[in-house]
Amino acid sequence: MNTTISNWNGIKPTAIYLKQLKEQPLYHDSNLKMWVACSYGYCKALLLDENAHVPEPFIDDNGPMNNEMKLLLRNLARISNDKKHQASRGAAMSIYDSISKVNVSDVLGQLLKGINTNDGFDWVEVVGKQLPILVILKGLGFNDEDKAYIITKLAALVSVMAPSKTVEDIETLNPVISKFYAIAERYALVNGFSTDALMISNLLGLFIQCYDAGRGLLCNVLLTLSRFNNRELGKTDNEFYNKLVTETLRRYPPVHNTRRVAVKDISLGGETIKAEETVLIVLAAANLDSRIFTNPEKFDLQRDNNDDNLTFGLGSHNCIAKYLSIGMATDTCSFLVDNYSVITILQKEFAYESQLNVRLMKQLMVSL
Ligand code: HEM
Repeated sequence: MNTTISNWNGIKPTAIYLKQLKEQPLYHDSNLKMWVACSYGYCKALLLDENAHVPEPFIDDNGPMNNEMKLLLRNLARISNDKKHQASRGAAMSIYDSISKVNVSDVLGQLLKGINTNDGFDWVEVVGKQLPILVILKGLGFNDEDKAYIITKLAALVSVMAPSKTVEDIETLNPVISKFYAIAERYALVNGFSTDALMISNLLGLFIQCYDAGRGLLCNVLLTLSRFNNRELGKTDNEFYNKLVTETLRRYPPVHNTRRVAVKDISLGGETIKAEETVLIVLAAANLDSRIFTNPEKFDLQRDNNDDNLTFGLGSHNCIAKYLSIGMATDTCSFLVDNYSVITILQKEFAYESQLNVRLMKQLMVSL
């Protein structure tokens, strides 16, 4: 029985994950030709297993990728392993640590300025796709001209991570990557960072990583926040928003799964994942495992271990921006409650982007 999700539209992921957790917490999907791990225990074991590597991109030295694209793909922490990963993660962390605290209310105020929020607007376009990158760029002190280019072309930069790119895709992307690379190099030079490929690639890596997951988090938090009455919320504090964000991350994670490739045989749950086989680690299913979370379907702010969710990954590749992301979402909640009396979601049905590792609404119409 293969029930691996192959499309988000019109399906109920929770029901599928609960069934998988009960009936097949680890199985081989013969259509996808990969293993699928759903239980919290198996997902955790794989994320912590040094023989489970992140898949690395195929780079054809004689192919159409320009030098900057090759450097980027060879140096990103997200897609490197072992010693290379330690060095690239170190570079990413050193830039991340230099991000100053940004006043999220100011940035949100600017994004919503000029919009008649009462009439209804698309939260995805106005906030989801812009707030995470603006928080990073502002926190790093990027100038307005570079900010404008980065925001306009970020979706193109992110597409460099797509595993299968046509020659045409690569040729369209080459000049965009060169321009991003030049902006990052200039920034590093002016701000006293090394300008080696490791540093430049991982600065761009922060831009790439914040885009989809940050947008998904802000959409899902808006949805859960809108279920509460703003008058009641007005009497709450940041601790409440923090709990709401944490439970949203567990129950409605933007990132649903991540992949690993076994570099040696891995024994798990009586099965052997053989060297070179791929495994899909379903973080969103692990978050619904009743062995860890009591009544996992319930959106429960009071459950005392909601922060044990696997939404930001675990182990050597875990997300370096967990606390920045949670802070940004928490500040977004308090901004909305402080400035608007009602949040009304204007849609009942949602269409989703085609990527399968993240579950992202294409549009989220809201009035404030
Ligand atoms: C400001 C926004 C963000 C930035 C700059 C960022 C950055 C990063 C980076 C650099 C990595 C790679 C770490 C490594 O491989 O050593 C990573 C991994 C990851 N991030 Fe984030 N991230 C952001 C937001 C988020 C959000 C909002 C989520 C989910 C809610 C998320 C989920 C993950 C996950 C699951 C991984 C691990 C992937 C894996 O193990 O395969 N990130 N992030």
